[in-house]
Amino acid sequence: MTEQLVKTVSVAKCGNIVVATVDNPPVNALSHSVRAGLIEAVQALESDAEARAMVIVCAGRTFIAGADIHEFKKPMVAPLLGEVIDTLDAATKPIVAAIHGTALGGGLEVALACSYRIALDGAKVGLPEVKLGILPGSGGTVRLPRLAGVEQALTMISEGGQISVRDAREKGIVDEVVSGDLKAAAIAFAEKVIADGAKVRRTSDLPVPAFDPAVLETSRTALSKKYKGFKAPLVAVDLIRMVTETPVAEATAIEYKTCKELLVSPQSKALRHIFAAEREALKIDGVGAEVKPRDIKKVAIVGPGTMGRGIAACFLNIGIPVTLIGLTDEGLASATKAIGKIYEGSVKRGSLTAEEMERRMALLTPTTSYDGIGDVDLVIEAVTEQLDVKKEVFAKLDAVLRDDAIIATNTSFLDIEELAATSKNATRVAGMHFFNPANVMKLLENVRAAKTAPDVLATTTALGKRLGKVPVMVGRSEGFVANRMLSKRTREAQFLLEDGATPQQVDRVLTAFGFPIGPFALADLAGMDIMAAARAARVARMSPREQQCNIVDRLVAAGRLGQKSGAGYYVYDENRKASHDPAVDEMLDAHRRERGFTARTITDEEILERCLYAMVNEAAKILDEGAAARPSDIDVIWTNGFGFPTYLGGPMFYADQVGLPKVKAALDKYAGLVGDQYFKPAALIERLVAEGRGLYG
Ligand code: CAA
Repeated sequence: MTEQLVKTVSVAKCGNIVVATVDNPPVNALSHSVRAGLIEAVQALESDAEARAMVIVCAGRTFIAGADIHEFKKPMVAPLLGEVIDTLDAATKPIVAAIHGTALGGGLEVALACSYRIALDGAKVGLPEVKLGILPGSGGTVRLPRLAGVEQALTMISEGGQISVRDAREKGIVDEVVSGDLKAAAIAFAEKVIADGAKVRRTSDLPVPAFDPAVLETSRTALSKKYKGFKAPLVAVDLIRMVTETPVAEATAIEYKTCKELLVSPQSKALRHIFAAEREALKIDGVGAEVKPRDIKKVAIVGPGTMGRGIAACFLNIGIPVTLIGLTDEGLASATKAIGKIYEGSVKRGSLTAEEMERRMALLTPTTSYDGIGDVDLVIEAVTEQLDVKKEVFAKLDAVLRDDAIIATNTSFLDIEELAATSKNATRVAGMHFFNPANVMKLLENVRAAKTAPDVLATTTALGKRLGKVPVMVGRSEGFVANRMLSKRTREAQFLLEDGATPQQVDRVLTAFGFPIGPFALADLAGMDIMAAARAARVARMSPREQQCNIVDRLVAAGRLGQKSGAGYYVYDENRKASHDPAVDEMLDAHRRERGFTARTITDEEILERCLYAMVNEAAKILDEGAAARPSDIDVIWTNGFGFPTYLGGPMFYADQVGLPKVKAALDKYAGLVGDQYFKPAALIERLVAEGRGLYG
């Protein structure tokens, strides 16, 4: 083999086959040098009389994972991806794409423009652009339907999911799936192609297969429901329709124009912000790349309640054995049954096999004793939220655990420092705050205490990713970040009822904004008894108005516990469909009368601003205290934890889009209306506005 380095694409010869290797870590994104290098590689193929075919293979962990997202903010430098695709498409000799890892976005477009695609078993392909608020812009929507059919292409493009290369082979996207040495297999494949006459196969020459046009409208309806508020999925339907009716060159031009327009849309900016923010959140202050996470092979969970069960399932899902410690055999039996039920549901839905369920359940060891956990690497304490109970658990753990085992508490509200001080070794204590239901919710608030060891922080972060969560490191703070901000929104929603709003008005305004559920429907779902207990735990520290704003207690007293009792803020039918209940209006009227409030007309704008800005203001205090490292961490927490619409970028990004001076003016206005203690602008907001800066500078 002779080798000549062309920037991030090296070109070598193997007999009469040109091998172009893309090497652009970390994910071989299509940066300028890769685009230029691929064109040069095709030129090398064309200009070499002896060369009969080319293989494109990638170094490192993956095939090309798409356009270089970092280049989106700058003007694009030629050659653009479209030119690369045209060059590949126009090649007079066959080109074989050899896929491993993930071929995504522009990466899959490159592969689709080649004559053949072979892939390593286990690899995946997809067009995830829609998740960044854009759509394929270099032939993806034009070529994929031609290979895989309109329906399959529509699903992949409008939802952005990845499919396995085995699936891709069945759908006609990939020609062959191989195992072992991909490059050698690709070269052997190319040799076979040459032996068969070196046939060039252009996807662009294929017709769009026949399809039922009704699919487009059915998809549009389903997408508008599933991705409420998102623009790109619906544009994808229009684009696919256009592709089915338009010649390739014209369709490619329209596709590019559409992608360019979407790229500058506010939704795309917000979604790209969240993509970057989730990756930034993995970088922990004071924990350098040299700090390696500890290996977690076995865990124990103390507390088989709702949280402990869900957390156990998270570990079983990824094949980590769990010892579940409880006080009684009955409690443990009920937890085991509940975990089994989670899996039975998946088996019924077809997303899990019965064998896999059995394998997972076999990893679970319920016990009432701490004796057998001397070899675990991590314990998650998920017992009741009482400091003395937790202290007792910590003492028992200290007595039996290895010195290097980590103790993580799942507390939601207790002081992490006080808990850490309880252990004889505070460096091993951290928080791992899961959200209910723990096996479903993506957000994981990892908590650092002052003495937590850096490799413990690295471990909880790496583990969060391994569990399929979105981990964010937070610091000491009552309620940490998610719940602390939520409590301000909850308070404001309650005050709005006192001022004259109705539960249905507040819920309507917040769902119209983009939240999946309003605060009162959420309270009905969580259960009023739970809400009342949370309130009782904090009531002594509340302001007089909050103390007396006891609507939740009134509902409990009336037996209105929410969905579970058939009535809460709403009344529910047998299908759990919520309706307005005049009895709640009467109850609110009585509450206002007793508390001396006169109901006034509240505008939707006031509702939205009070609910959102109460959170933004609290977040600014959290940032100033250092309980969150960066505004983007808060955006990640709220988009993954409480359904803040990702296409608005999270509360911090949103506040910057509104403009901090406008946010501050609203805070000042509500400070006058509701009270200084609730809406006085946080010092950080005052400072940033005075300096003419936003939360993001
Ligand atoms: N461009 C630039 N950098 C990228 C990137 C991209 N497309 N995709 C990932 N990266 C970076 C990440 O920012 C991260 O960098 P840091 O380590 O500095 O934070 C690093 O690569 C590793 O990424 P992950 O942590 O996500 O690694 P992973 O192994 O968990 O996942 C992946 C790998 C599946 C490729 C995932 O990164 C991913 O989904 N990437 C996005 C893919 C994508 O959306 N492609 C389409 C882009 S748009 C397009 O292609 C169409 C067009 O032309 C307009």
